[in-house]
Amino acid sequence: MATFLSTVSIPSSHVLVTDYPKLTLFVLAVGGFSVARFALKTLLVLAQTFVIPGKSLKKYGAGKGAWAVVTGASEGIGREYALQLAQKGFNVLVSARNASALATLVTEIESKSIGDKKVQAKAVTMDFSKLDDEAQWKKLRSELAGLDIGVLVNNAGKSYSYPEDFHLCSDKDMEDIVNINVSSVVRLTKMILPGMVEKKRGLIINMASFSGGSVASPMLSTYAGTKAFVSSFSGSLAEEVRDKGVDVECVNTYFVVSNMSKIRRASALIPMPKTFVRSVLSKLTLPCGALWTNRPGLVTPYWGHALLDYIMNVIGWNMAFVRFTHRLHKDIRRRALRKMEREAKQQ
Ligand SMILES: NC(=O)c1ccc[n+]([C@@H]2O[C@H](COP(=O)([O-])OP(=O)(O)OC[C@H]3O[C@@H](n4cnc5c(N)ncnc54)[C@H](OP(=O)(O)O)[C@@H]3O)[C@@H](O)[C@H]2O)c1
Repeated sequence: MATFLSTVSIPSSHVLVTDYPKLTLFVLAVGGFSVARFALKTLLVLAQTFVIPGKSLKKYGAGKGAWAVVTGASEGIGREYALQLAQKGFNVLVSARNASALATLVTEIESKSIGDKKVQAKAVTMDFSKLDDEAQWKKLRSELAGLDIGVLVNNAGKSYSYPEDFHLCSDKDMEDIVNINVSSVVRLTKMILPGMVEKKRGLIINMASFSGGSVASPMLSTYAGTKAFVSSFSGSLAEEVRDKGVDVECVNTYFVVSNMSKIRRASALIPMPKTFVRSVLSKLTLPCGALWTNRPGLVTPYWGHALLDYIMNVIGWNMAFVRFTHRLHKDIRRRALRKMEREAKQQ
């Protein structure tokens, strides 16, 4: 090896610069551009996440009698969207299966007023897994008819009760997840978007996930697949209707405290729904952590998620994250099965 190296003449930097000036200039220009782009991107991600305010909800009709439609509003993140959009001056139509939770929410929203105007609210009970239930879809369509809808939040979602290998999952669970997370999103968007395009004003917020939106998620494969759909659907739609006055954004979300995540304690990386929704609504149309990552329409507005998304994209070592997630999911499954066994014995 040493003999070989002694026979190879490695040009000094002086020789490179003087003998190949154009090549040197090209290499320096490419290097300089990469460093400048990285620095600018970092600066913009931080500025969007921590300083710059997003588009105002007034642009979508807040305080002017417009309605916001929120699915999956009986609990968790959806309930918070409904409450905060009402506080910002929207009338709100909420939907989910749990009629009594929706009724309580409607009463809470109707107790609010913006200036001297009372906020209106109504609930439509829907089971989004039942695509063939003509009666419920007809009822929803008739409740939506005639409303000036400024905002649609496609938030309703179903995941696994615990991570599981796809071949062991029930057919019904997998079909429900696709119906709720994909087909209903497409159907509702199809019902509401034409009115927004006609009025040249509207905002559609679709709830996605790091599972599927950013990386693959072993043992949540169907859930991750549906969220990848939501991500791609939103990005395509966002470009399609941008010049028609309608903004479509897909919220890339890591964990949030909720029944779905089964996480009870908040941390920097796992906010409460209230904090999370406040970030989304204050950073509208700003990609934040998803900036310049070739994912049109995708936004990562909550600061902890934004930094994680940014770091994952800088490091670009997604397979490490996928393997970590797979190990984590195996562990969660093991503990969930053990808990179910214990509970079965107690009965
Ligand atoms: N929490 C997280 O860590 C996290 C992370 C990434 C993405 N997300 C996404 O954020 C969204 C909200 O999640 P979350 O954490 O707030 O979940 P959650 O607390 O479980 O709430 C889910 C909502 O969806 C509704 N829903 C479930 N099945 C339904 C059905 N068949 N028909 C109609 N509505 C149905 C539920 O209402 P009913 O039970 O009354 O029907 C509930 O209001 C979901 O799209 C989820 O995928 C959450």
